[in-house]
Order: sequence, then C-alpha cells, then structure tokens
Amino acid sequence: MEMKKPEDFKVLFTEERIQNKIKELAKEINDFYKGEDIIAICVLKGAVMFAVDLLKNVNMPVQMEFIRLSSYGNDKVSSGKVHAVDISLPDLNDKNVLIIEDIIDTGHTAKFLLDFINNNFKTKSTKFCSLLDKKISRVTDIEPDYYGFEIDDKFVAGYGLDYEGFYRNLRYIGYSK
Ligand code: IMP
Ligand code: MG
Repeated sequence: MEMKKPEDFKVLFTEERIQNKIKELAKEINDFYKGEDIIAICVLKGAVMFAVDLLKNVNMPVQMEFIRLSSYGNDKVSSGKVHAVDISLPDLNDKNVLIIEDIIDTGHTAKFLLDFINNNFKTKSTKFCSLLDKKISRVTDIEPDYYGFEIDDKFVAGYGLDYEGFYRNLRYIGYSK
C-alpha cells in the first residue's frame, strides 16, 4: 500500500480549535479539583500530545504517570480485546485519579482500565477525560467525565492518534480522504 502524505488527511479539528478546547477542559478540571493534588494517568501512545497540553493548563499539583494499553492492532476495527503492554502504576489508594485518553471508541479500553483501577485500589476519586468521543461506536456503558469533541465513526489521525503507526505528530486531527 502506498504511504499517505499528511496532505491526504482532511482537517477535522485545527490546532487552534484543539488548543482552545483544551483550555475549556482545563478550566472545568481546575474548578472540580480546587487545588487538590491529582495523579494523571496518560494512556500511551495516543494520549501523549493531549495529556501534555492539557496538564500544562491545569493549576493543581500533578503527578504524571504513563501506561501503555493496546487494543487495535493495524486493522482499524476494535477487537474488543485489550492488552496491557505496561500497566505499572503507583499506589492509587485515597488519590484523585484523572485518566487521560485520546479517544473512546467501543469503550473496551476505557472499561479495561477502569476495572483494573477499581479492582486494585480504592481511590478518592476517578475521572476519565478523553479528547474525542465516538459515541456512535460504543458497545460498553462507558461515558467520559470530560471530553473535547464528539465525532462520528470516521477513522481519524493526528495529534497523538495514528494511522498505521504514523501521523501522531500532526498538530491537527484529520481523517483520511
Ligand atoms: P476502544 O477500546 O474501542 O474504545 O478504542 C480505543 C482505542 O482505539 C483508542 O485509545 C485509540 O488508540 C484507538 N482508536 C479508536 N478510534 C481511532 C481512530 O479513529 N483513530 C486512531 N485510533 C483510534
Ligand atoms: Mg489510545
């Protein structure tokens, strides 16, 4: 298959729209935690750009953690099977936990992570923040506490999200033409 060029992705959300939305989300998050410290869990690889930009805009003390989950493979269809590549976490008992994801699609990944946390820890609070929400593809009862944009069932890439491993570095989010 011929490799796509960045220009082959039609812009869905510009860099400016993403950054403005992040400021709105950060304000909601600041208002909720009111300066209490949190443990932010960035779900690699997809959420890396979003987590970094979001956390630069919040005002409470933040401990950043990174885990790596994988559900997709390369076939662009959720298998429903989630694989924990690396889920090493500190003690989350009595902590405010904020999970940061790029996108919730079927919800299998989010459910896997929430079940893992609930089965292993008694947190003070657990909130889920996803930049994108593909509500139409949901097959679980997962709802994010915070989300940036709802999208239909287009396959998107950029700003952390990949197309066959590439394009995570785009500043915008696009879909393939
Ligand atoms: P879920 O488990 O079906 O909710 O899928 C969540 C994961 O699938 C996300 O963390 C993404 O890594 C990946 N994913 C879902 N939709 C897209 C997309 O449109 N582009 C890139 N990755 C996606
Ligand atoms: Mg992901």
